Amino acid sequence: MISPSSIDQVFETTRVEEVIGDFVQLKKAGSNFKGLSPFSDERSPSFMVSPVKQIWKDFSTGKGGTAVSFLMEHEHFTYPEAIKYLAKKYNIEIEETDQSNEQKEKASERESLYLVSEFANSYFQKVLHKTDQGKSIGLSYFKERGFTEETIKKFDLGYSLDEWQAFTGEALKQGYNIDFLEKTGLTIVKESKRFDRFKGRVMFPIKSMSGRVLGFGGRILITDKKAAKYLNSPESDIYYKSKVLYGIYHAKQSIAKEDNCYLVEGYTDVIQFHQTGIKNVVSSSGTALTSDQIRLINRLTKNITVLFDGDAAGLRASLRGIDLILEQGMNVKVCTFPEGEDPDSFSKKNTLEELSLYLEENAKDFIQFKASILFEESKNDPIKKADTVRDIVNSISKIPDRIKKEIYVQECARIMDISEEVLFSTLAQINKKELQEENKQFKKEQKTFEVIKHQQPVKKVDIQYVLERKIIEVLLLYGNKTEDFEDLILKENDKGELILEPVIHQAKVFEKVFLDLQDDEMEFSNEQFKTLYYIIIDTLNQDPNFELKTFINSVDANMSNEITTILMEDERYTLDDWNRMNIFPKEKNNSVAQLVSETILSLRCFLIEQKVKEFQQKTIQSNTETNRSILEEVKDYSGLKMLLSRKLNRVL
Ligand code: CTP
Ligand code: MN
Repeated sequence: MISPSSIDQVFETTRVEEVIGDFVQLKKAGSNFKGLSPFSDERSPSFMVSPVKQIWKDFSTGKGGTAVSFLMEHEHFTYPEAIKYLAKKYNIEIEETDQSNEQKEKASERESLYLVSEFANSYFQKVLHKTDQGKSIGLSYFKERGFTEETIKKFDLGYSLDEWQAFTGEALKQGYNIDFLEKTGLTIVKESKRFDRFKGRVMFPIKSMSGRVLGFGGRILITDKKAAKYLNSPESDIYYKSKVLYGIYHAKQSIAKEDNCYLVEGYTDVIQFHQTGIKNVVSSSGTALTSDQIRLINRLTKNITVLFDGDAAGLRASLRGIDLILEQGMNVKVCTFPEGEDPDSFSKKNTLEELSLYLEENAKDFIQFKASILFEESKNDPIKKADTVRDIVNSISKIPDRIKKEIYVQECARIMDISEEVLFSTLAQINKKELQEENKQFKKEQKTFEVIKHQQPVKKVDIQYVLERKIIEVLLLYGNKTEDFEDLILKENDKGELILEPVIHQAKVFEKVFLDLQDDEMEFSNEQFKTLYYIIIDTLNQDPNFELKTFINSVDANMSNEITTILMEDERYTLDDWNRMNIFPKEKNNSVAQLVSETILSLRCFLIEQKVKEFQQKTIQSNTETNRSILEEVKDYSGLKMLLSRKLNRVL
């Protein structure tokens, strides 16, 4: 259990834009930030973060909430995990009572897998630094490779003893369940036998974007033809190979800042680059890059530079995988190293300045690179040339941006010494099938659009809905504020005329709203708003230190999505860059008191108008006698409405 005061401290310190900024590249949009939704696959941003309200809203999925709920949603953290993560980020010491064995058992399965992996991670490090075998074999291997003490610690490198059960035995002794040891693959269970998967290997923990250990890579140290050089954790409920990039945790900030990501092949390439001083680097760990991995990068930058070993025999095969990156609309560069070098060996031999200069001078645009390689390969072979043309055009066809596509066709025509027409017609052929697909999709979209278009004239703006929503918004944002409210009261002046005189009184916003609405016996027409209204009033009434982010955290996910919708609805329009075009109205400079009074009065006016309309409807249907009394009432209401309108004018 985390102590309440620790939780409070975490809440006070946390800035939602800083937390989310570690996962999503955010751009300033007015007083908010916007970015690509991390919960859907989108090209134009519909994800917003409000530093003022300390909330986020994803308009593509409807999700929204606080920094804590973002972590729970995005990293699948539990509530205490999210708090712990934030405490770590902001260097806050957390008071906590230790978990009992019983609690350990109760923790969910995934949680247990995380726990076991975390334990293994610290165990392997301890073995590396504290045991004789660890030091003489593991540590000296890393030192030989040129890794400094600092680098070894930064990447949590470790060593697994060359014994059959050293790790498994220790884990069981510490109370970890054999099921979870088996599920994470750390222990191999064969009938009654159990042994360590990573026996006698140096260990590379593989971490998620937020730094949790998901699995391991272990490198063998002896040259044994039968054993694989690297052994990796099997897939588990916490480790999906295709969704993980080695090094992403240490690289994410630098990727966003440099607006570029280097992609290398192996663990050691990542680590050596870091040590040399280039931090925006990740590795797909020897497997072909997947769309999910690219998506991880795409959230941080649009630019990727793929680094190839100097003697990469499979360079041509690797080129194919790059089409996947193009498909996601990213800009791809490639860079090869001199014969016999890989990113690891090259960065080890060079200083940061030399490495940076090399990358800068040798990174080539992918399409141009591919075109020149293919041209060299096929220039004297007409049949092969036809194939390579199709190959390069195939890559170009993956680029979503039409203008870019066209520029590349022109470029490649020049490089490969072919007419643009040939390339364009090949592109048309390749696109034909996809175009047909696209058309189908487009027609479908058009249809749904038509449905909406037809509905439009029928659908009026629901004023009551808008005003009720505004009241909820006001309560959430300012409910706890004390303000000077100006009320107009009827008075008789010297000449015996009735006049309206302003009187100032101080009140909390929520009290003012509550009393005013009660005076008028007003009920919310929208059921969700009604429920929310009473919960908010109740909370404000009980907690003099009401805070929006604490409140949002205390309600269930549905309600917090609802609340963030209400709070961010107005801001939504800033997503479309209307700001820049000056279409979006400038923010009003009203005081809170004005805003509150204006909203309540507007709702009152609206309801009175409804009443008047209702009465008018009745007079048409009824006899003269009842008509007279109804007309009287209408007159009363009309008078009231006039009075309210005058008040409204004053506060506007
Ligand atoms: N790899 C793997 N399993 C193997 C071989 C390689 O998972 N049997 C992955 C590892 O992530 C490795 C990457 O592919 O880091 C690149 O492989 P390779 O170039 O062979 O290894 P290096 O990183 O160069 O490793 P080292 O320098 O330690 O030999
Ligand atoms: Mn190597």
